[in-house]
Amino acid sequence: MSKSKSQEEQHWDAIWINANIATFSISTEDYGVMENAALAIKDGRIAWLGSVAEATQFKADETHDADGHWITPGLIDCHTHLVYAGNRAREFEMRLNGASYEELQKAGGGILSTVKATRAASEDELLEASVKRLESLKREGVTTVEIKSGYGLELETEIKMLKVARKIGDNDKQVDVVTTFLGAHALPPEYQNNSDAYIEHIVDDMLPAVHEEKLADAVDGFCEGIGFSPEQIERVFTKAGELELPVKLHAEQLSDLNGAALAARYKALSADHLEYISESGVKAMADAGSVAVLLPGAFYILREKQLPPVQLFREHAVPMAIATDANPGSSPITSLLTVLNMACTLFSLTPAEALAGVTRNAASALGLEDDRGTLEIGKRADFILWDIDHPSELVYMIGANPCVSVIKNGIKCR
Ligand code: NIG
Ligand code: FE
Repeated sequence: MSKSKSQEEQHWDAIWINANIATFSISTEDYGVMENAALAIKDGRIAWLGSVAEATQFKADETHDADGHWITPGLIDCHTHLVYAGNRAREFEMRLNGASYEELQKAGGGILSTVKATRAASEDELLEASVKRLESLKREGVTTVEIKSGYGLELETEIKMLKVARKIGDNDKQVDVVTTFLGAHALPPEYQNNSDAYIEHIVDDMLPAVHEEKLADAVDGFCEGIGFSPEQIERVFTKAGELELPVKLHAEQLSDLNGAALAARYKALSADHLEYISESGVKAMADAGSVAVLLPGAFYILREKQLPPVQLFREHAVPMAIATDANPGSSPITSLLTVLNMACTLFSLTPAEALAGVTRNAASALGLEDDRGTLEIGKRADFILWDIDHPSELVYMIGANPCVSVIKNGIKCR
């Protein structure tokens, strides 16, 4: 007798039993807890979630005992500058001796010193240095990472960075890489005192070339006194729109230039940093459905005082994501779990908000909310097993990595 379709569908590739699951599904305000539960997968997707008792009626090719461990979605780091050469430890010392981030940048240090090192590095050197940093994110359960260019500031090096980012994704079984073109990150020495000409070069030459080679999934900029003006960013965004590339923006990190509202006008996936955003900026983000990506690592390292208006994001229902902003200057951090703690300790997020910020809302910040970021039927089978008693423990501890196992696309890779 042939099996009915429904019985056929209930034969899973694998099932994890005896787990506590935090689904972060959109229908829950909290962790979305399912205790003493099971999760089944088929063809690299989540096929079923339910109680252990119900699970016994189904067949699976493999059965894994989760042994009471917690399962969460694979973590998503939605804002990084992971690909770069050199480091800025000396600059860190100088800042501790009183120099400000802006002063160092104006004196040709800051981003430009990393530009020099990144231009000089070969593709292989860049890859090797970046993979080491990625390894540290992976140990803590990251399965999707966004990587920006922006330390080339000339076509050749921007392309080299994006190729390295793509290669990391192609070579790595645990991590998907989403790339972002950040040509408008800082003014390169070749264009000193002529920032409009550099923007023109981005719009006419760099962005079309990067797009032609399919190297960028989105376009970003740094809207700031030491970066680019809203008018200049708008020219980049207009071009991105013509090429049908989504945009996002480093906005309101050190001052309020209404960058988030500008990004919202271009239906940005996200606006990031946002310490100085006004209530009208928050409202504009809410209307556009843009995600507020908070970067407590940069706030901590730069010893900033102005807090992002978390309560306003809550009131206006702007989803908040959390990311490492891993970069050699303002956030030399490759631990997403540490940054979760910072989001709570420094910005007063609840642990559930912080964790939603590296799962569900981080997926939205990358435009991937239909595919990942929660544990629901049909979503990609990216999930982590943790040796913890409650999800809040992931946020509470610093330096203890309770990651037991990583499943990516249904395959155990750690
Ligand atoms: O997100 N704000 C601009 N860009 C980075 C810093 C880059 C750097 O200092 O190298 C950031 O903080
Ligand atoms: Fe950044």
